[in-house]
Amino acid sequence: MLIAVAVIQSASDPPGIADALAPTPPMGWNDWNAFGCDVSAGLVQHTADLMVDNGMKAAGYRYVNIDDCWMLPHRNAAGDLVPDPVKFPGGIRAVADYVHARGLRLGIYEDAGTKTCEGYPGSLGHERQDAARFAAWGVDYLKYDNCHNAALTTRAQYLARYSAMREALKATGRAIVYSICEWGEQQPWTWAPGMAELWRTTHDIKDDYAHLLRNYTQNVDLHAFARPGAWNDPDMLEVGNGGMSTAEYRAEFSLWAVMAAPLLAGTDLRTISAADRAIYLNRQVIAVDQDAAGHQGVPVSREHGHWVVVKRLSNGDRAVVLFNAGDAPARFGTTAAAAGLPSAPGYLLTDLWSKATVVSAGDIRASVSPHSVVMYRVAVTLRRPTR
Ligand code: GLA
Repeated sequence: MLIAVAVIQSASDPPGIADALAPTPPMGWNDWNAFGCDVSAGLVQHTADLMVDNGMKAAGYRYVNIDDCWMLPHRNAAGDLVPDPVKFPGGIRAVADYVHARGLRLGIYEDAGTKTCEGYPGSLGHERQDAARFAAWGVDYLKYDNCHNAALTTRAQYLARYSAMREALKATGRAIVYSICEWGEQQPWTWAPGMAELWRTTHDIKDDYAHLLRNYTQNVDLHAFARPGAWNDPDMLEVGNGGMSTAEYRAEFSLWAVMAAPLLAGTDLRTISAADRAIYLNRQVIAVDQDAAGHQGVPVSREHGHWVVVKRLSNGDRAVVLFNAGDAPARFGTTAAAAGLPSAPGYLLTDLWSKATVVSAGDIRASVSPHSVVMYRVAVTLRRPTR
């Protein structure tokens, strides 16, 4: 006899296996950029509370992710990974329960080699056992790194190492978002869609403009490979960490959004300034990132470092980022036709940072300061052009 089982979940429940894992790019927080190895249950739980209190949860940030250095340097006698009892006195399960009780989800970190980048035990050859632990602890997201990879560096060996963990996660029966972190070494965009929900396309970001520009440039042309459930990941956000100007942080957030990148805050939410928090909370920019159609923006021009990136949105609007990557102010842009919009009496341009609106006859153009963006949402309108 067949028995139909209905699984009813409340909004705060962790996901079941039947949920689409990442229909839009994952949003959340990760400790690495701001804290390195200085991670602990206290920090993660405090951050979860802050995400509820400061509006980030309501704005869509959902994952609270633990990076490297959460475990002891050796497996136990049973071969299991052991959370560092000083950093995580109640283990990972207690942190997962805490985070889930606030309607958020927990992420963890491991490595597809013999050791993590910081020298803790890796999962190579232990995939089933480690995935089973993560599932038993209530983990919802795994970032899987590439250090100490035992010289298994051909593409076939990358595929084998990374698919072993995918299979192991699947075998747990728990829905766990799988984030491949092999830094773009073996063009994961060509093989990771369908295996992972997201994959890093670059080496590590740092809190400076040169790294922002490098990661952006390496990621922006990979738009053909992104789709709902499969996202290019140019690394976590540095907004708030102090090494860049507010304009540069707005540029980072806008470019990541137009590229449909994961939005993982990488800063200390206990001490973040109001100005930087406002960047993370810009709902209209978030809506561009999270648009249901799941297109990654396409660069339509880039001459002299004057980038124009256009993202087609599910309601037919276009998000247009004008990014001046250079060192001198410049006036540049595109047209509604080049952005793929149909002919119309006018085009309503909403500046997603200043909130100013203007009706254009077709020009999508602005004066852009160095290292800065102007970001528009453009809609067709019956209103007559005001410029
Ligand atoms: C690698 C990853 C980083 C971070 C560190 C942790 O460098 O790319 O994002 O996870 O390891 O050791």
